[in-house]
Amino acid sequence: SDQKTLYGKITFTMIKPGERNQENIGPILTKITENGFRIEAMKLVKLRTKQAEVFYSHLSDKPFYNDLVKYMTSGPVLAMILEKENAVSDFRVLIGDTDPTKAKEGTIRNLYAESLQKNAIHGSDSDENAALEAGFFFSTSERYNKNGECFLKDT
Ligand code: TYD
Repeated sequence: SDQKTLYGKITFTMIKPGERNQENIGPILTKITENGFRIEAMKLVKLRTKQAEVFYSHLSDKPFYNDLVKYMTSGPVLAMILEKENAVSDFRVLIGDTDPTKAKEGTIRNLYAESLQKNAIHGSDSDENAALEAGFFFSTSERYNKNGECFLKDT
């Protein structure tokens, strides 16, 4: 079915808010495309508090949750669906550790993060979450690649 077509071959990412990230959008996108990820959908959107709360609801019991929601709604995020073989795991390698002080040299977080909270970029941590997160940001008609394959069915 359509739903399975690109399952395992896409990930969801967003460049997080902030002046520094805004200035680095070009270099970050270059890094992504140079590493073999194809941008299949992209939009600059400002999340509402409720949306950020839902997006990070699995972290709602963490002490950093409220500050995280505040930060993620402080300005627009650049949301994208990326296509590549092994997209989820390869992209996690490209962005580096959640904590930029532990992120390997040359990774996006190593190069562009300001802090643990303002760590430049999000990357889905599983194929299932990639599909959910892509569906959270993009409508059905926005989820087709160049071959007309759909990333996931409408929910
Ligand atoms: P998490 O899902 O653990 O990491 P990742 O984004 O690498 O999948 O955490 C979500 C975001 O929460 C993380 O990117 C940055 C923020 N965060 C903090 O602000 N403080 C923390 O101690 C942690 C672990 C994360």
